[in-house]
Amino acid sequence: MSLDAGSNVSPDPQQAFLFADPAGHSLSPRMHRAAFAYAGLNGHYEARRVPAEGLAEAVAGLRRQGVLGANLSLPHKETVVALLDDLSPAARAIGAVNTVIHRQGRLLGDNTDAPGLLQALSDAGYSWRKGAEVAVLGAGGAARAAVYTAALGRQRVWILNRTRDRADELAAAWAGQGAEVEVRATDLHDLPWSRVSLIINASSAGLNAPEETPLPGFDFSLLPAGALVYDMVYKPDETRLMREARSAGVKAENGLGMLAHQARLAFCAWTGCDVPVEVYLQALNVGGAT
Ligand SMILES: NC(=O)c1ccc[n+]([C@@H]2O[C@H](COP(=O)([O-])OP(=O)(O)OC[C@H]3O[C@@H](n4cnc5c(N)ncnc54)[C@H](OP(=O)(O)O)[C@@H]3O)[C@@H](O)[C@H]2O)c1
Repeated sequence: MSLDAGSNVSPDPQQAFLFADPAGHSLSPRMHRAAFAYAGLNGHYEARRVPAEGLAEAVAGLRRQGVLGANLSLPHKETVVALLDDLSPAARAIGAVNTVIHRQGRLLGDNTDAPGLLQALSDAGYSWRKGAEVAVLGAGGAARAAVYTAALGRQRVWILNRTRDRADELAAAWAGQGAEVEVRATDLHDLPWSRVSLIINASSAGLNAPEETPLPGFDFSLLPAGALVYDMVYKPDETRLMREARSAGVKAENGLGMLAHQARLAFCAWTGCDVPVEVYLQALNVGGAT
């Protein structure tokens, strides 16, 4: 498959943005610029540093003609909700928006982190066996997306967080939504690890910190055969969590697949073009691509 730019570039310029603070480190411009080129669209993607007090004005600007929408990252994923006209079911359940879609002056909030994670886990070979047990590490926005994803796959979820109260709050919030899938907060030593077929690190532990892990001293041999460790962290490529899992013979993946899929789904919602995930991965220099 050729991943080169499309040959027919449309004449109408279209714009999409990332609003975050900080924004300079973001990999989203690389991915979306590659997608515009591949799709043959005359589009422009720009990462803007938007502090909390500037969010309302930035979001109002998305209603202009020619604007497709925006991605949101820290610290805006939750506060943006109040500024939008409608929410997708995923954004409503998770309580966080990573993608705003502009349609004729109206703004829809969506969350493509959850379906992006679902797809990345499937790509990593995770088999969605009903009733399988999943440990989610963390209790912030990414953990909420992870719990939603696991529940979509009919998995039983254990939430483990550095601050136990936040894990309790997340489990209670989930129960409050009347979900059928069991979601419980727990502590490291109470978790039935021999039944856990998937660990999702949705905490920031390990982010730009190669010696940090959310599971210090963990014995990965407690996990059943075929278990997968999915680390949403993607910098460094191999986190300590992944390294220790692999040393114990447990399969481990970083968060680049999720990052690529959430971008693919956002781009698809903005433009109607489902650009192959390989284009995004190549933009991220994954798989030996330059
Ligand atoms: N791959 C992707 O596409 C993708 C998408 C979204 C997010 N992410 C990644 O997911 C991670 C979490 O994002 P977020 O938006 O949920 O952040 P967040 O809302 O700030 O939550 C951070 C979570 O990490 C925990 N934590 C932070 N440092 C820790 C440490 N040293 N040890 C153990 N736990 C620690 C926090 O625990 P406390 O409650 O105790 O503070 C909290 O539960 C980030 O690394 C982000 O880059 C990746």
